[in-house]
Amino acid sequence: MQKLSLNEVRAGMKLVKDVVLEDGRILLLKGFTIKPRYLNKLKVYNVPFIYVEDDIVELEEISEERVYEDAFSNIKDIMESIRYDEKVDIEELKETVDDMVQHILNDDMVFMTLTGIRDIDNYTFLHSVDVCIYSVITAKALNINNNDIYELALAAILHDVGKCKIPLSILNKPGKLTTEEFEVMKHHSIKGFEIVGQMPGISERIARVICQHHEKWDGSGYPLGLKNYDIELWARIISISDVYDALTANRVYRKRFMPHEAAEYLMANNESQFDPRILQSFINNIAIYPQDIIVLLNTGEVARVLPAKGMASMRPKVSVITKKDGPPIFDPYEIDLRKNPTVFVVDIIS
Ligand SMILES: [Fe+2]
Repeated sequence: MQKLSLNEVRAGMKLVKDVVLEDGRILLLKGFTIKPRYLNKLKVYNVPFIYVEDDIVELEEISEERVYEDAFSNIKDIMESIRYDEKVDIEELKETVDDMVQHILNDDMVFMTLTGIRDIDNYTFLHSVDVCIYSVITAKALNINNNDIYELALAAILHDVGKCKIPLSILNKPGKLTTEEFEVMKHHSIKGFEIVGQMPGISERIARVICQHHEKWDGSGYPLGLKNYDIELWARIISISDVYDALTANRVYRKRFMPHEAAEYLMANNESQFDPRILQSFINNIAIYPQDIIVLLNTGEVARVLPAKGMASMRPKVSVITKKDGPPIFDPYEIDLRKNPTVFVVDIIS
């Protein structure tokens, strides 16, 4: 066993002790092999050191992780180039998005355990990737044809591109925006329309959809206050993914919603903000709590989520593997959260 500081930790190392945060929350459980995305997580939470086994496992590159990371770096490069008025080439992003769509067409759940890993700095870029994933899953469930799904995916990953033209002082403000600042922020959908409309090889429909991603079903959205079916189908899909993903992220000014709370919020606003038929499809097809993620329950038990989809994944069955600050349980037992209404998820550990 070796004790390593964060800059000595490498992917492939296996944890021999739980990584516990100062407030007592468990970040990673012992027995896990460190994957590249965990390194980021350790950095975000400022973990000073961890205990690992002496041997390093050679990690095979997992195809979906590579695609997810490519999508993140492609959209980051594009948004940063736009911010600094540099030349933008979206061919690489198009290829990555096509790859991502293909993965989801083969298997809806392929990226589900990767979504939701966001730190404050990279929020906009990871949010764009996650919105793309949720939108493709929903479009597939709605039987939208594959050619359209590829286009929709591109619109989804580019939906907030107009934020590149919003002053950083507003975009990164560590607090709620004033009314005036919010008015400036609202311009991002029109700015996005203008930016994407000038990109060669991008259809006018994609630009229109980006312009409409904050329109609401009852006409209370912006910039035009469009209503119901006057809003493009793809924009109605993207707006649901956008709100769900934004709610489940930690922001500087508020703690994130747990995924089941975000899903409940969407359902409570059904018929005012969102197209009810699409919302139903969204809830039925994304995994609110994806299989194999580790959650902390209000009982102090730490559990692995068992497979479930849609509504059932709001309150999934879980397998309890340890107790917070307690020893591992060698005989894991199951709890069905739907049959135990007083038990619920209070945090996602990994
Ligand atoms: Fe937006």
